Amino acid sequence: MPVPLSPDEAKAFLDSDAAPAAYLDLLDAVSFRAVGAALRLGVFEALADGPLPVDQLAARTGGDPLGLRILLDALVGFGYLTSADGAWANSANTSRWLLRAVPDSFAPALSFWSALLTHWWQDLEASIRAGGPTGDFYAWLEQRPDVLADFQTMLRRLAAVLGEEIVELLPVPAGARSLLDVGGGHAGYPVAFLTAHPQLRATVVDLAGALAQGAETVAAAGLTDRVELRAGDLFTADLGAGHDLVLLFNIVHGYQREQTLTLLRRAAAALRPGGRVALLEPLAEAPDRPAGPGEAFVRMFSLNLFHTQGGRAYGYHELVDLLRLAGFTDVRQRLLTRSDTDHLVTAVLAG
Ligand SMILES: C[S@@+](CC[C@H](N)C(=O)[O-])C[C@H]1O[C@@H](n2cnc3c(N)ncnc32)[C@H](O)[C@@H]1O
Repeated sequence: MPVPLSPDEAKAFLDSDAAPAAYLDLLDAVSFRAVGAALRLGVFEALADGPLPVDQLAARTGGDPLGLRILLDALVGFGYLTSADGAWANSANTSRWLLRAVPDSFAPALSFWSALLTHWWQDLEASIRAGGPTGDFYAWLEQRPDVLADFQTMLRRLAAVLGEEIVELLPVPAGARSLLDVGGGHAGYPVAFLTAHPQLRATVVDLAGALAQGAETVAAAGLTDRVELRAGDLFTADLGAGHDLVLLFNIVHGYQREQTLTLLRRAAAALRPGGRVALLEPLAEAPDRPAGPGEAFVRMFSLNLFHTQGGRAYGYHELVDLLRLAGFTDVRQRLLTRSDTDHLVTAVLAG
């Protein structure tokens, strides 16, 4: 967690050159690495039912008692744990956000980002020098079922938060029959649409590993007979034709202009005239987004996209330009009320 600073300390670090601000980053980086280790070691789950002394915690997690104790003390310093009377306990924030059984737990997101930053970000300089990623991010994910499951769970939970508003914002005419979700993986968004619109059917195209969670989401919603999960590549798979609505959620930011244009043209070819495409994207240069963590996240995310996939966060006007080139009109965007980063961008295929 960010190191707590008094106003004078913050001023010395951030508003003057009296002390190196990078020292704070060093401490925060160690805090992030330590909480990832604790998550993977099962420390927070082991403390879910109450405080434990270190020897019992070591027995439950399988860790070395001395190493574990030093990690626990660091986590107390960073605010993830508390200690009293020779026992350690989860802090209130840890109990609320880092236990996996909590429905909107942050644990899958933290676990995913921890794996990503520990593995992929070690050669950040290389992608900046080379001008592109040093590997295939989605192939890397598909080879790591645990990280892939955390990634898709993180996105599925976001879909549970954002889905209702997105369904409200996207008009689906009474005659609409068919929705295509390109790169829809966990299938949370098509499930939200099909639940609200009983006449709709959906096709979800994604890689086989990603669709495993999609199959679970669809089955849990009782929608198996209305959803086709189609394993294939976004750039080559048969996307069908005549769909009323195409979702491209969190997809185009993985690519630069040419490939994004290819994907938008594929979406256009899969739609009926007058059909709608919808993109969900964290936009760069978004005037309606308040300053703060959301803005910081988008900058970090854009760097991550470039490093891991050769993509980036797009500006709205760039997307308008690309959508028009692909044959779309009536482009609109809106920052979702339950997010400080996610913009819904919609456009209509010229008839
Ligand atoms: C960032 S996730 C977005 C998932 C979902 N649309 C959402 O917004 O929550 C990108 C998705 O695209 C899929 N994907 C990436 N590259 C792909 C490719 N070449 N072919 C098929 N699917 C791909 C991934 O497996 C993943 O499910």
